Amino acid sequence: MGASMSVSQDGIISWNDYAKSFQSIMPPVMIELNEAVAKKMFGHVIDYGCGSGKLIPYLNDNAAVKSYTGIDLSEDMLALASKIAEGFSGLTTRFIRGNVLQVPVTPTDCAVSINSFYSWSQPKQVVRKIFENLNDGGVLVIGSLSKSINMRELLNDAEPLFLQNEYWPDFRRHNINIIDHPNTKLVELSELCDLLTSIGFKISHATDSFYRGGLCLVEAKK
Ligand SMILES: C[S@@+](CC[C@H](N)C(=O)[O-])C[C@H]1O[C@@H](n2cnc3c(N)ncnc32)[C@H](O)[C@@H]1O
Repeated sequence: MGASMSVSQDGIISWNDYAKSFQSIMPPVMIELNEAVAKKMFGHVIDYGCGSGKLIPYLNDNAAVKSYTGIDLSEDMLALASKIAEGFSGLTTRFIRGNVLQVPVTPTDCAVSINSFYSWSQPKQVVRKIFENLNDGGVLVIGSLSKSINMRELLNDAEPLFLQNEYWPDFRRHNINIIDHPNTKLVELSELCDLLTSIGFKISHATDSFYRGGLCLVEAKK
């Protein structure tokens, strides 16, 4: 863990510190991922660990999406997400601050969670809660950093595009800290699929093709 990185009482990295640089930097691999994930969404969508709302512009392009609810622990991430949402008034959005394990929500047909899973202290309980919050036949798209990720290589790839961006050094440092953090739970595709199946999900599609093989993405049905 980097000396300047603080950890919350839940053992989770301080997402408030990361919010501004996270929102400001969008490497091509993240664009590709968000585009692909948004295309799979429909109806009323709940985003578990929505961060700064990077998915919102892509969801706005998908006419099948009726509304978006973002849940996140971090006040600073949510403030940035609300700002992004203001620019996409065609999409009904709301934001809830809290732990994904505790926030009560109305069941929907669609759930998404990208790169939040790896920091959950009780991943199985969260996935069970997501399952309970879905209507029968509802869809979850979940993605998280893989054990095969080469974070330094991904950062080196993106660096020439963002060297002039004042937030690049922070973005780089936070990503290195995440990957080196002892509480970060990197996952394998089969492990994520097994966890989802053990809760009752049926796997529709699973791939580790994003982030140059460094991200596990699974689409599953209740
Ligand atoms: C790397 S960001 C990803 C944000 C967004 N999903 C994306 O892909 O752009 C991870 C987010 O998960 C949130 N998070 C982590 N654990 C959480 C929990 N238990 N409850 C709510 N939010 C959580 C953090 O606050 C952070 O904003």
